[in-house]
Amino acid sequence: MLYIGIDLGTSAVKLLLMDEAGQIKNVVSRAYPLEFPKPGWSQQKPEDWKEAVFSGIRELLTGFDGSQVAGIGAGGQMHGLVVLDENDQVIRPAILWNDGRTAEQVAYLNGEIGMKELSRLTANIAFAGFTAPKLLWMRENEPENFARIRKIMLPKDYINYILTGVHSTDYSDASGMLLLDVEHKCWSAEMLSVCGVREDQMPRLYESYETVGTVRPEVAKALGIPDSCRVCAGAGDNAAAAVGTGVVGRGGCNISLGTSGTVFISSDTFRVDENNALHAFAHADGGYHLMGCMLCAASCNKWLMEDIYHTDRYSEEQAAIAGDKLGENHVFFLPYLMGERSPINDTNARGTFIGLTMDTSRADMTQAVLEGVAFAIRDSFEVVKKLGIDVKASKLCGGGAKSPLWKRILANVLNMDLELVASEQGPGMGGAMLAMVACGEYKTVADACGALVHVVDTVHTDPILAAKYEEKYQQFRKIYPACKALFAELA
Ligand code: XUL
Repeated sequence: MLYIGIDLGTSAVKLLLMDEAGQIKNVVSRAYPLEFPKPGWSQQKPEDWKEAVFSGIRELLTGFDGSQVAGIGAGGQMHGLVVLDENDQVIRPAILWNDGRTAEQVAYLNGEIGMKELSRLTANIAFAGFTAPKLLWMRENEPENFARIRKIMLPKDYINYILTGVHSTDYSDASGMLLLDVEHKCWSAEMLSVCGVREDQMPRLYESYETVGTVRPEVAKALGIPDSCRVCAGAGDNAAAAVGTGVVGRGGCNISLGTSGTVFISSDTFRVDENNALHAFAHADGGYHLMGCMLCAASCNKWLMEDIYHTDRYSEEQAAIAGDKLGENHVFFLPYLMGERSPINDTNARGTFIGLTMDTSRADMTQAVLEGVAFAIRDSFEVVKKLGIDVKASKLCGGGAKSPLWKRILANVLNMDLELVASEQGPGMGGAMLAMVACGEYKTVADACGALVHVVDTVHTDPILAAKYEEKYQQFRKIYPACKALFAELA
């Protein structure tokens, strides 16, 4: 049997074909455009996702027997608002997780409804990227579009709808809407009412590993797969990535160094960070998790390489950073190119280089970007530590995990060993594994992880370098508070 894992990301969809033994047989990636119509706005056309998924699956299956595809599972970029009309047509481009247009609506939710009440209802407070503030924004700014909404869903749910004709979502992804009572896993009637939407406009809720339907006959024909192929509910990309790296059950940790940077702590019981600096969400294994999310991680490096240096030779640029420069850089970078979510929750924050001198080199600036992202990930770990959670080692996945230098920097900034599994394709791998559970290959998600996920490499910390980075981190953490008021004034 074969399984398809879909990682519906922000810059591209990555598709993975896996056999029942967990062997990855093929991987295909298809990029799509990302629109920034105004500073801090970020949107994408769901139709582009659909096209990329369809043409990508056809390429993925070239040379393989499509009739063997038993299941499909997707991990998708979270929080994006997808709205469909009564004919299930997309009403407007999806407003994405890293979109900062909703500062006013976030202030209303956190201020007027109140953080305590939001946390009581949903286990979370409002952040600009979450879905509920986007609904309020749409109601205020696009009332005609808002009035046409028949179904509200998240990015991967749109793909699942196209595949099966079923309007579904799963608990992990729905957690990031600020419309779900996360603890009790049901829609919050109060929050739906705050946003002016009805429960019949919401998709049906599933566990990530449950089957939502089989592929529509016309889709099956177009993709060359059987119409008995099951589609599971899938998960938010971070929960799917955690499954793909075996982070399920109590106390596991996964870091994703992708377009966003996340720290994901799995738990078998529900828990809220009382300051709500970390998100309290459901997990794809049926449990829960706490998560810190920075908006620009690998995308800071991509920005520097491609938009500023105009190069695609990432490793050449990193090779120019001498080993003895690690922990010695006097240039710092605040990685807030799209504002920031965890833990500072500030849409006004901006990317900033500080500490430049006449001898600053291109390599120092490249290094500062890699280090700035690692320091910002450490910011989330500081919150985790304050909650009394002791993380001794973490899994690591995402595009940034391909860089040996970045892995070394991150391990030493966090002073924590980092474990790598065979594939850095966390969400796609997790999606395929969820599909295997839906098809009965494994009884539970934990069983699938136990059988299919293996650590193949560990990046160990170096005490001397970790001590140097400890000092640098203590300097880094003073920069944002010193800039905060200025960011607000410049916004
Ligand atoms: C998580 C988040 C991001 C996106 C990236 O809360 O917003 O990690 O899911 O795709």
